[in-house]
Amino acid sequence: MTTINDCQILDLPKIGSERGNLTFIEGNNHVPFEIKRVYYLYDIPGGETRGGHAHREIDEFLVAVSGSFDVIVNDGSNERRFSLNQSYYGLHIPSMIWRELVNFSSGAVCLVLASAVYDESDYIRQWVEFESAKTTKQCK
Ligand code: TYD
Repeated sequence: MTTINDCQILDLPKIGSERGNLTFIEGNNHVPFEIKRVYYLYDIPGGETRGGHAHREIDEFLVAVSGSFDVIVNDGSNERRFSLNQSYYGLHIPSMIWRELVNFSSGAVCLVLASAVYDESDYIRQWVEFESAKTTKQCK
């Protein structure tokens, strides 16, 4: 079963020069899955939260490409908070982990790489359903 210990900060390449920095991300290399979708969260109003769900099968990798925010991950038993505030690392969240994105700074941009195209049926949006799936081991 997936636990919060499977949520890991992964360092990314950073090519620095006097002209600025460049970071790149390759699927099955810098992130442990094939990248099928990219989306980003931006213009988040102060005090607003995102997430509040788990994915049945999809892996995601989150990067604070601008500003900062916190990600609270929960596996149904334990919780951990990660602060993302640099463009050269990100957080890998495997499937069957509940996540909340909070504490967005002004101008924060959250880049998300996902292992599959959008599929609403992959979401678990009710906490009770997530808890039940974890305890009955219906899912990972
Ligand atoms: P959602 O994943 O709930 O946002 P967040 O976790 O950031 O709070 O998605 C918000 C809405 O956007 C929801 O109606 C589904 C839609 N959506 C897509 O159509 N495609 C996508 O790739 C994503 C991530 C969301």
